[in-house]
Amino acid sequence: MSEKETKSEPTNDKRPYFSIENVHSYYGESYIVQGVSFDIKEGEILALLGRNGAGKTSTLRSIARTDDPEVKSGEIWLNGVALHELKTHEAALSGVQLVQESRNIIQGLTVEENLALAQVAPGHGWSLEEVYDHFPRLGERRKQEGTTLSGGEQQMLAVARALSRDVKLLLLDEPYEGLAPVIVQEIEKILLSIKKLGITTIIVEQNAVAALRLSDRAAILDTGEIVFTGTAQEVLDNEDLRHEYLAI
Ligand SMILES: Nc1ncnc2c1ncn2[C@@H]1O[C@H](COP(=O)(O)OP(=O)(O)O)[C@@H](O)[C@H]1O
Ligand SMILES: [Mg+2]
Repeated sequence: MSEKETKSEPTNDKRPYFSIENVHSYYGESYIVQGVSFDIKEGEILALLGRNGAGKTSTLRSIARTDDPEVKSGEIWLNGVALHELKTHEAALSGVQLVQESRNIIQGLTVEENLALAQVAPGHGWSLEEVYDHFPRLGERRKQEGTTLSGGEQQMLAVARALSRDVKLLLLDEPYEGLAPVIVQEIEKILLSIKKLGITTIIVEQNAVAALRLSDRAAILDTGEIVFTGTAQEVLDNEDLRHEYLAI
């Protein structure tokens, strides 16, 4: 058995499918993620919400094991794998896929080439056919250069690229940012169809209402600390919470 298979073997303990446990992260001396904990059941979507600068992106980056911010203490577990012990590429091989706000479409490559490049990574996810099934617009534009797509289409491509890899935990950082409401609805429909496939997801969004529509549970961050975890409905029903942290 390869090292990767050994690491992917679920443990017998009672850990949830995904958990982040008392994680503290720093950009150099700047202490940003201050003891964050929450967990997610397999196949659930969690909305990670909070004001601008609350530490949402930094939390996603801690989970994806990017170099910045540095996780100095705490544990992160996915399906029995200790992510906190891994580097970025190892976390990706264990199924963590971060779709960054910048979307990172590769310049000079067509839609299909962008997807094909993702598929070269070990541990295959969706085939091109499966991608075009779920994202018909990408099929129509398969020969078009990726960076010339509209904002919404680029977001679709970024998500599709993550699904072209072996994804166990999908991390979406502000997928609706800068998109017209009609495009948000279109992407929302796609995310709902992905949800039916049982992919565990964390969605960070300023558009809290749209994120909560999609989510089973929510966690709210404020200055690097979790101030609430509960169901999406509990957030919608709690006016104080909505006013104080979500401006809705
Ligand atoms: N590369 C960085 N170096 C230093 N501080 C950073 C860096 N990136 C973000 N921060 C700081 O970390 C805090 C949280 O940022 P971020 O995680 O991006 O928040 P959010 O995604 O919730 O808007 C902010 O105060 C921000 O200024
Ligand atoms: Mg952010």
